[in-house]
Amino acid sequence: MKLFLDTANLSEIKEVASWGILDGVTTNPTLCSKENVPFEPLIKDICRIVNGPVSVECISTQAEEIVPEALKLSQLAANIAVKIPVTLEGLKATRILAGSGVKVNMTLVFSPSQALLAAKAGAAFVSPFIGRLDDVSQHGMELVEQILTIYENYQFETEVIVASIRHPGHVVEAALLGADIATVPYGVMEKLVKHPLTDTGIDRFLADWKKVSLK
Ligand code: E4P
Repeated sequence: MKLFLDTANLSEIKEVASWGILDGVTTNPTLCSKENVPFEPLIKDICRIVNGPVSVECISTQAEEIVPEALKLSQLAANIAVKIPVTLEGLKATRILAGSGVKVNMTLVFSPSQALLAAKAGAAFVSPFIGRLDDVSQHGMELVEQILTIYENYQFETEVIVASIRHPGHVVEAALLGADIATVPYGVMEKLVKHPLTDTGIDRFLADWKKVSLK
């Protein structure tokens, strides 16, 4: 399973890259707006640090505008994946871009039918937002299960990025279902490694080590 970091913050990206488990990054307009630095240099810096796909979102809404915007974004670095919301205009643009070799991450996916169409349009990635579904009393992980079944039924190569993750349990459930990727906020990424019994275990071993004779 690949782990992406869901952030546009360079310090967070450098830190998680140093752990040796980072496979990619996803950004969105909200995450970029939090950084208060010029957009294009920020994306280029992220792409230099990350050895894997970096998703960057188009803000155009019509296919004839999405395509040139996506092509411009994809020139920023070799590892850019262009994020496009799953609308009819987004599907049209994705078909054109996929034909030109641009990796598209179809985003804001909330139904299995949207994911089916994204795969048929040639998207490299599809991003179901499970936390936002949980927020409105729907079971987000059921959507992931449905998408994985559909993709398996027809051997679609589109990779499923489980997005809008809120806690470590979401990552574990995504892994148990066999999702290709989870994109995880920094705070949740840290929690993935923490366990109180590990901490108390280390404390006890260190205390007991002081009693061991080294002579
Ligand atoms: C995914 O690519 C999005 O950037 C992200 O996961 C959205 O999550 P949110 O619902 O916490 O904003």
